[in-house]
Amino acid sequence: MNLNDQQQNREQWGSKVGFILAAAGSAVGLGNLWKFPYTAGQNGGGAFVLVYFAILILVGFTLMLAELILGRHTQLNAISAYRKIKEKWAWVGGIGILASYLILSFYSVIGGWVVNYIVKSMTGAFNTADTEVLSSIFVNFITNPIQPIIYQAIFVILTLGIVIGGVSGGIEKYSKILMPGLFVMMVLIMIRSVTLPGASEGIKYLLLPDFSKIDGNVMLAALGQVFFSLSLGMGVIITYGSYLGKDENLPQSSFTIPLIDTIIALLAGLAILPAVFAFGFDPAGGPGLIFITLPAVFSQMPLGNVFALLFFLLVLFAALTSSISLLEASVSYVVDEWKMSRKKATFILSFVVFLLGVPSSLAQGPWSHIKFIRGLDFLDSMDFIASNLLLPIGGFFLCIFIGWVWGIENALKEATNDGKISFKLAKFWAFLIKWVAPIAILIVFIQGLK
Ligand code: PHE
Repeated sequence: MNLNDQQQNREQWGSKVGFILAAAGSAVGLGNLWKFPYTAGQNGGGAFVLVYFAILILVGFTLMLAELILGRHTQLNAISAYRKIKEKWAWVGGIGILASYLILSFYSVIGGWVVNYIVKSMTGAFNTADTEVLSSIFVNFITNPIQPIIYQAIFVILTLGIVIGGVSGGIEKYSKILMPGLFVMMVLIMIRSVTLPGASEGIKYLLLPDFSKIDGNVMLAALGQVFFSLSLGMGVIITYGSYLGKDENLPQSSFTIPLIDTIIALLAGLAILPAVFAFGFDPAGGPGLIFITLPAVFSQMPLGNVFALLFFLLVLFAALTSSISLLEASVSYVVDEWKMSRKKATFILSFVVFLLGVPSSLAQGPWSHIKFIRGLDFLDSMDFIASNLLLPIGGFFLCIFIGWVWGIENALKEATNDGKISFKLAKFWAFLIKWVAPIAILIVFIQGLK
């Protein structure tokens, strides 16, 4: 099959809403619900949120559009997309796919924790607001050498099952139902959380920036979080864009997706940080934050058990719509380039990613004393390498590629469907992708490494 046949036979999204929801489904996930609140908590709250917004606007939206353009133009996976335009640039797509794979390895570990919490809420295991009890339930589980690995395996199997179903049959179908459900649920939990006695401290902590807290580390964390949360820099959005029809409005999508993503992240922040203060947890408490804080919130709600169960189910679905996109990035490469069947590729890649995730799981318990880079354990090191190093590097070269190598004119032609739709911000976007985004990424990257 040559490239052209391949492009003609390529699967497409079944509908416009389907694509937006699937792309938003990729963006909205553990990054919003689990990572955003605790990263904000560790990096000065409002200071972090402020920097996050700045980067979101200057870099997030800009790169989102760039990736959609590249994907739809070439109708190929990330590596082949670069290669098709400029042979020598394929490695940038490679960095992205590598990052997505590393992320998937630890993502599945956290996904497994969520599965376990679904089971726990069915058995009413944490029907208490006692912070000590809730912390020890969490710690006992994640430090166990075997149990979390079993749950991680369950999460990988769920991901695999959906990816085998293919683009419109699998990914799209699930996203359509579950994303709106998640939104409603988050609003309800947030309302309970911000009305807890003592919650106002948390709201202030999240929304009032303390400028003195902004430093290189906070900026690097915010940059990494924007990439992570928007699924940027790793070929996922390129891949999803490649399944898009030629009449889709890309500039509009590149605005809608970050908007949905940010709303959900803020809702999660507002659901968790006020509760952290109300119950006297530590805002810098790290990855356990949602697993320890929210059960306390649920215990203060009528029908708390039901809420807990529903909530963790929705978190699981949000995580799955992200993990399938992470897996899809490498599956589509192997299917396109190595001509492997989708089924076989999915099985092999899932198995390897499961093995790669095992050390991340063990790093919570038996291997917690082993430090890799920057004094971080295995899971946090994988996250740091992928989110804070590979993604910005991939993102920087994406800007250079679109802005300078392939050229703005070609990019805008694709963005406007050959001039058929208007894109009012075209000039501004061109300026952002050529100058502002790459320079911002570079500065933050260097500052953060110091
Ligand atoms: N954006 C997803 C989240 O916030 C994670 C993800 C990263 C998904 C990269 C795909 C690619 O949970």
